[in-house]
Amino acid sequence: MNPSTSHPHVSVLLEEVLQTFESTHLICFVDGTLGAGGHAEAILAAHPEIKFYLGIDQDAQALELAAARLKPWADKLILKQGNFADFDLFLKELQLPNPNGFLVDLGVSSMQLDQAARGFSFSKEGPLDMRMNQEIGHTAADIVNNATEYELGKIFREYGEEKRWRNAARTIVEARQKNPILTTTDLANVLRPALPWNPKKGINPLTLIFQALRISVNKELEVLEIFVTKAIDVLLPNGRLAVISFHSLEDRIVKNQMRFAASDKFETTGLGGIFRDKKPIVSLTTKKPIGPTDDEVDKNPRSRSAKLRVVEKLPD
Ligand SMILES: C[S@@+](CC[C@H](N)C(=O)[O-])C[C@H]1O[C@@H](n2cnc3c(N)ncnc32)[C@H](O)[C@@H]1O
Repeated sequence: MNPSTSHPHVSVLLEEVLQTFESTHLICFVDGTLGAGGHAEAILAAHPEIKFYLGIDQDAQALELAAARLKPWADKLILKQGNFADFDLFLKELQLPNPNGFLVDLGVSSMQLDQAARGFSFSKEGPLDMRMNQEIGHTAADIVNNATEYELGKIFREYGEEKRWRNAARTIVEARQKNPILTTTDLANVLRPALPWNPKKGINPLTLIFQALRISVNKELEVLEIFVTKAIDVLLPNGRLAVISFHSLEDRIVKNQMRFAASDKFETTGLGGIFRDKKPIVSLTTKKPIGPTDDEVDKNPRSRSAKLRVVEKLPD
């Protein structure tokens, strides 16, 4: 719990997000990861000119919590349960204008991590679920018990970057022939002997395996790629898109998409080295991503790996 606010999730890079939008006149703002509404509260307080604040979250519980926190702005707040990759459908359905601001603060919230029943954490016994939207899609247990050894290996290699991905996949396939793997503890107990961890040599392999499953269950990288392209496209001139990511797989997608939109060169595929001119549609507000201060990391260790990247839409 964050004692200062009694909300269970501490918003990362809050000051830096406020600075990002400081000189932007915001009429319609899309917050794609409303969560506990911490960024929303600060942005709404700093921008009385906002007319429409569209808060999206896949998680029904997050929306409930945010609605209570953001009551003072209830007349501007529009809540939608769904995926931020579908923001354009929501804007259309609600007949909202094109936004001059977008924020996504990726990943799971502390509320989701802390609830054993959501199945995100191997240190808390719960069903192997991991869906951010509990109304749709396959659970982590569906994947662990049904995917082929090849598919599991691919998930662990690509989304977890765990070197012993082959070992992990084989171990799961052997174990599930005896008993289905239904809980977070089942999976951790199956994998621990196969993936011994030396704390002096880096991240716990179970963290990487659980991260990989979560990314796969929620299709996190696919939706991020769709979102960034569409958000850059519909942003109004001088509007800004801010993305906070927490691991290199996410950051790579954000960096590449933003750099491409800011570039005046279009690389033709298949003809290595041949470039055509194109019109840049955004400028990068900083070359390097913005990270947390030491003080923020001390107060909120979750912010350690946060990276904020921002682009501003150029006039037509
Ligand atoms: C880190 S929290 C956001 C915290 C929020 N910025 C705050 O200050 O309270 C991430 C939230 O985004 C949601 N989320 C993650 N990916 C999403 C997606 N693709 N579409 C919609 N919501 C998503 C999660 O359910 C979670 O509630």
